Amino acid sequence: MSNDINRRDFLERGWKVGIVMIGAAGMWTSWDVLRPLPGSGLGGVVKTIPPSEVTDDTTVYVRTAQTYLTKIEGEIVALWQKCPHLGCRVAWCDSAGEFQCPCHGSRFNRAGEVRSGPSPRGMDRFVVTSTDEGVEVDTGQVIEGLPLGTPESIDEPVRGSGCSDA
Ligand code: FES
Repeated sequence: MSNDINRRDFLERGWKVGIVMIGAAGMWTSWDVLRPLPGSGLGGVVKTIPPSEVTDDTTVYVRTAQTYLTKIEGEIVALWQKCPHLGCRVAWCDSAGEFQCPCHGSRFNRAGEVRSGPSPRGMDRFVVTSTDEGVEVDTGQVIEGLPLGTPESIDEPVRGSGCSDA
């Protein structure tokens, strides 16, 4: 009889320990996925890469700032990844030399100016401060892109087919 009780107690405790361990494992893995990234947080200043890594022939994606960095006429520009049409993430297509939105096909030149598609304006920008340690992107200060129909300020025609054409 006392063996039955001990076995029952043992099983009951075993279940409790198992449930606690499963809960702890779930919290651990959830935290690993959901925790805020250091220096991230849209709405604040995000320190990114050194200015020397930003070039004037392509873009660099910085996930923590949801931003593409590029250099236009010697000045570093931060373009928000969010498409002004309906908010999809615009992708840089290096073979075509332009941004392409995968949702409805809007296209933007390297300066983020809209070339075609349903987007009503160019890609929005963030205010940028360049220091020796890194480019700081102020994601709390959004500068709206120029409206559709504004002439492009850079002379960079599409390089070729690519990305969403494939
Ligand atoms: S969300 Fe980009 S074109 Fe529609």
